[in-house]
Amino acid sequence: MRESAGSTLIRGIGELLTCSGSGPDKLGLRRDAAVVVEAGRIAWVGTSTSAPDADRSVDLGGRAVLPGFVDSHSHLVFAGDRSREFAARMAGERYDGGGIGVSVAATRQASDDELRALVAARVAEMRAQGTTTVEIKGGYGLTVEDEARALRIAAEFTTETTFLGAHVVPAEYSGDRAAYVDLVTGPMLAAAAPHARWVDVFCEPHSPHAFTEEEARAVLVAGELAGLGLRVHGNQLGPGPGVQLAVELGAASVDHCTYLSDADIEALASSAGTTVATLLPGVEFSTRSPYPDARRLLDAGVSVALATDCNPGTCYSSSMPFVIALAVREMGLTPGEAVYAATAGSALSLRRSDVGRIEVGARADLTVLEAPSHLHLAYRAGVPIARALDLPD
Ligand code: NIG
Ligand code: FE
Repeated sequence: MRESAGSTLIRGIGELLTCSGSGPDKLGLRRDAAVVVEAGRIAWVGTSTSAPDADRSVDLGGRAVLPGFVDSHSHLVFAGDRSREFAARMAGERYDGGGIGVSVAATRQASDDELRALVAARVAEMRAQGTTTVEIKGGYGLTVEDEARALRIAAEFTTETTFLGAHVVPAEYSGDRAAYVDLVTGPMLAAAAPHARWVDVFCEPHSPHAFTEEEARAVLVAGELAGLGLRVHGNQLGPGPGVQLAVELGAASVDHCTYLSDADIEALASSAGTTVATLLPGVEFSTRSPYPDARRLLDAGVSVALATDCNPGTCYSSSMPFVIALAVREMGLTPGEAVYAATAGSALSLRRSDVGRIEVGARADLTVLEAPSHLHLAYRAGVPIARALDLPD
């Protein structure tokens, strides 16, 4: 029989951000802190001088520690390469979702083992940059079998799996959109639901490939009836109905939120955290688009999350530190607000309270910085200073 690993005292934490504070001090910043971890959970949090004994200890030598990043929006199950599409965009082309079909063709052709290896490499790349929880969507299969397969593979890596059969209307259904929505809400949902926690839809009237408000509503209502939680891709390419639809249906998250009206912001604020605005500034970077007005959202009292949207089209970056740096440099968040949105904020968007914060009972998902403070995440942009802390089981 394997012996239990017992408790581990993590000391020498120069700066600890718990992200579990309440009121104005949501960051819960402590200096000279220590944490005790036992059986994969946080067992104690306090100052180094009052730390209890433990079976072993790890000294972090003054480094900063924060909750592991929660990347609440990614599309990791894909094969193929779209770097030329990126280069064309940098030369002036606009993004409209049309390139998704290229990834669908390559993904359908890949074997299960090839897809599994691609997802494993991307998840490892995330962990090496401090991400400890990841949501993974399907959406590059767009047949009953291929969407079920994508979610089966995603579920090998995370419990946060999302059915995205309504990513785009695939070429073979371009003459009959209604038939594709029937497929998504019928047999495809039935095959996907056992492997999924969430349903999502690309609701975007500015793309001929994506879904209208009525189509998106049908997909979300069917997903909810099948027991799935709701997420929406909305207001990415222009103003649109995605945000209002997400709030109306009580979705946990509406993602992108690049083009928002006053009414959209009011609706999000009045949802009081039921619907989180998930911002994906890596997408604006990689599509050369204007950044969302994060400052306005925060000032209006909207719950905001940050995520990568790691995908082959609009942002092939797995880096939460990059996203944090963009949020600070381009969207006017303070470094503390950006860290909070990338941890507790994105945990809220997944309706999780056991991740994204460091408090007794939460999962022992910790990220350590090769730096004395969280300010370095944006200050040292592009330098690999964040990593998930590996602890004994
Ligand atoms: O979140 N907007 C739709 N879906 C992805 C992009 C997918 C792709 O281009 O492959 C996104 O940006
Ligand atoms: Fe996305």
